[in-house]
Parts: sequence; structure tokens; C-alpha cells
Amino acid sequence: VILSSLPTILTLLLFALSLSPISFLPNEVLRASTIAAAAAVIVLGRVEERQSSLLSNRLIVYLGDISYVVYLVHWPVAIMWKSYWDLQELPLKDILICLSITFLVSILIHHTLEQKFITASTTVSFIVVGVIYILMLGAVVFSLPQHLNSAVETKVPMDQIVAEAIKWNERESHTRYYNQRPFRECVNDPEGKKMRDGFSQQPAYECIWKPNHTQASVSILVVGNSISHRSMKILRPILENNQDLKEIRLFAHSACEPIEPHCGAFFAAMMKLVERSQPDITFLIYDNSKRLREDIVDISTDKPLADFVDFLKPLTTNSKYLVLDEFYPNALTTAGVAASMYKRLLRNQSLDDLKRQYEPFLDSYSFYFRRLDQLRAHYPNLIRHNTSGPMCAEQPGWCWWYNRKNLHAYFTDNLHLTADGLELERKSYKKIVEDLIQKAKKDKN
Ligand SMILES: *[C@@H]1O[C@H](CO)[C@@H](O)[C@H](O)[C@H]1NC(C)=O
Ligand SMILES: *[C@@H]1O[C@H](CO)[C@@H](O)[C@H](O)[C@H]1NC(C)=O
Ligand SMILES: *[C@@H]1O[C@H](CO)[C@@H](O)[C@H](O)[C@H]1NC(C)=O
Repeated sequence: VILSSLPTILTLLLFALSLSPISFLPNEVLRASTIAAAAAVIVLGRVEERQSSLLSNRLIVYLGDISYVVYLVHWPVAIMWKSYWDLQELPLKDILICLSITFLVSILIHHTLEQKFITASTTVSFIVVGVIYILMLGAVVFSLPQHLNSAVETKVPMDQIVAEAIKWNERESHTRYYNQRPFRECVNDPEGKKMRDGFSQQPAYECIWKPNHTQASVSILVVGNSISHRSMKILRPILENNQDLKEIRLFAHSACEPIEPHCGAFFAAMMKLVERSQPDITFLIYDNSKRLREDIVDISTDKPLADFVDFLKPLTTNSKYLVLDEFYPNALTTAGVAASMYKRLLRNQSLDDLKRQYEPFLDSYSFYFRRLDQLRAHYPNLIRHNTSGPMCAEQPGWCWWYNRKNLHAYFTDNLHLTADGLELERKSYKKIVEDLIQKAKKDKN
């Protein structure tokens, strides 16, 4: 008796577990118990007498029949829906719509394609699947989705700013950070490579620019990760006509962060470079650090701070001035700001939520900033560059993710700045670098 009612109990339990709006079990436990209960139902239900009216209910049997197709269909439906409306989360209304679409499509496929395939021969299935794969490959190779987008683009009437912004954001959303030097005049740097004992991993991030000013004496070194590669793009127009600038050298590595357990060889090479090149000004530019953001128990014995102080030592002792770019608030879109802007402008959707509040950013980085406050006591030649201030200055308390005049995104993705994003930092970079060049020049005389 117990055995024969067990499948029913388990089935009810399964429904309760998977459909309950309140999650009373941790996700991992929930998944494991659902799988175990489902397996038990299958094993126990093999014997016909144990199949309760629930398990033989026609609707439930039908749901079981289409379940594999539902499983295959639900994911692309949800992804396409989110992508089309540029959503990060699915609100209840959208979940219901997605479910309806999923079931409609699944029922259709179940009665047509699936039945055909179940009865078709292996050869036929093989050929059809092969053809589908080839079509998909062709669509990717020939950028079919992009062409479809452009086709839509030309049909919607829109003013000139919007039309230009759509093109601009589309281009920026495809920016490749890794395969290009920050600008053409930043060229191979055999001298720098020699000073690093031959270390070279990402040539696009390792280059030198000598503006050919005859009286120039000041040298600048820019180190960090992909963020520093971006900053070179704004330092160039700022310094182009500065007759005191002899050279700017870039040595960076994507995704490397100081005092984290990676990139040891890169940082060792960085320290050799600064020691042997003795730059007047060094810029350290990178984003985010788990360790520097950890809670501070006691600042006087704080390990992340001590490690960071140690890390900075060769940089501050071998450069006249060290500029440390502070972290700035990144954006929080699903596909990146440029891609979001492109999609939304194309569909005339609102852009009002493409921003975040400044205060919560400062709060969540408060331990990081407190650690930075300690550095001045260790290194009087260290200058902090407040990068978040200029980025969040357009409207008090808010950090916008795009230029509201020309509708250009400030971020290519959620982190790297576009030309318009870099433009926000121009004034503060200019002030810092021109002041320091003057000081460095005076020191020499
Ligand atoms: C540098 O400037 C000098 C004189 O102004 C010029 O003769 C020379 O061609 C320039 N070199 C480069 C690489 O531009
Ligand atoms: C875009 O939407 C706004 C309102 O959100 C509307 O006033 C405007 O006419 C729309 N433009 C186009 C080209 O559809
Ligand atoms: C950066 O500058 C902004 C605006 O001037 C200011 O509100 C913010 O507190 C500064 N950040 C830090 C860490 O001092």
C-alpha cells in the first residue's frame, strides 16, 4: 500500500517543490531533491498498479510528452525576449508572456517536427540537423542578425542625432580592446622590452610615443590593465602640444590587478621597467580590487593596505611622481552600454534608467577609499586622481552612462570608456599632468 501511494506523494511533493513561490530550501538542495524525487517517480511508476490517477492523468501525461521540447524552447525564448527589450531581470508580466510563447511553440513543434523526427530514419534526421547547423553557421559568418538590424534601422524615421548615435553606438559596442595600440604613433618599444629583460605578452598594450619636441625632457610611464590602455587615448590630445614632453611609455596587461594572486611575472617586469627607466611621472591605472575593498578591522594592522604599500614602493621610489587613478563606478547593463543604447535608440525605447546613484558607489567603496587615505603618509609624491567625481558631475548625485546631448554611450561595455567617456576625465587629467610636468621640469633645473 505504501509503495503504491509513494509515487503520488512524491509527485505532489515535486509539484510543491518546483512551483512554490517561496523558496524554503537552498537552491542546491532544492535541485538535488527535485532530481531524486523525479527519478524515484520514474522507477516506482514502472509498475502499472502503482501509477496513480495523478500519473495517468491525460493532461499531465501530455505535459510530460511535450516537456523535452519545452525544455529546448524556453531558453532561446527567454534570451531573445530579454535581448529584444534589453532587460536584465524578467518581471512577472514578461515571465508569463515568455511561458505562453514557450508553450505555444512547444505544442506546435511537438505535433509537427518532433513526431516527424521520432518516426523518421536516422539518415533523414542526420541530414536535416546537418542542414540546420550549416544555415546557422552561414548566418553567423555572414553577420545575418546585424544585416537584419540595419534593415530595420533604415525603415524607422528619425532625426539626425538619433540616426548618428545609432551608428556610433553600434560601432563602439564592437570595439576590440586587445588587438590595437591606443593610437598609431604609439610604436614598438624595444628599449622598454630590454629594460624588462625581454618580457612581452600583449604587444598592443606595450608601446612608446615620442612626440618629437626638441627641447623636451619629461618622461611619463603609464602602467596598469586595459583601463590604462584606454586612458592613453585622452592623454595624447592633452599632451600633443606640450613642448616639455619627451615620451610616454605604456606597459599594461589586461585583467591584471595589483596585490591579487595573478600576473606575478607581469608585475615583476613592471617593477624592472620603472627601476631602469626612472620616469618623471608614473600613472597607475586599473579597475577594482577585491582585497582593497574588504572590510577593515584595524587599519593599523591591515594586511591589504600593507601589501598595497609594499607594491607601490618601487613605483614611488623610482618615479618623481606617482599618480594613482581611483576606481570609478562602472555601468550595470546586460549587454554593455553601447549595445544597450544602440538597441534602445533603434526601437525608440526610454534611456532614463541608464544611470546609477553616486552615493551608494561611494558607500560600497568606502573601505577602499579609507585605505587610499593612508597612502599619502607613506608616499608624499603620490597623487590621487579622483575619476568618479568628473564622471558623476552632470547631475548632482547621479552617474549617467551616456552623453545626453549627442546620445553617445560613455562605456563600450560596462567598464571601458568610449571617447565621450574619456572626455569627462580630460579636465582632471590635464590639470594633474600639466602641473606635474612643470614641477618635474623645475626639479631638473
Ligand atoms: C622631428 O622634428 C625635426 C625638426 O623639427 C624634423 O626634422 C624631423 O623630421 C622630425 N622627426 C619626426 C620623426 O617627425
Ligand atoms: C518615440 O517615442 C516618443 C515617446 O516615448 C514619441 O513621442 C516619439 O514620437 C517616438 N518617435 C518615433 C520616431 O517613433
Ligand atoms: C571625488 O570628487 C567628488 C566630486 O567633487 C566628491 O563628491 C567625492 O567625494 C570625491 N571622492 C573621493 C573619494 O574623495
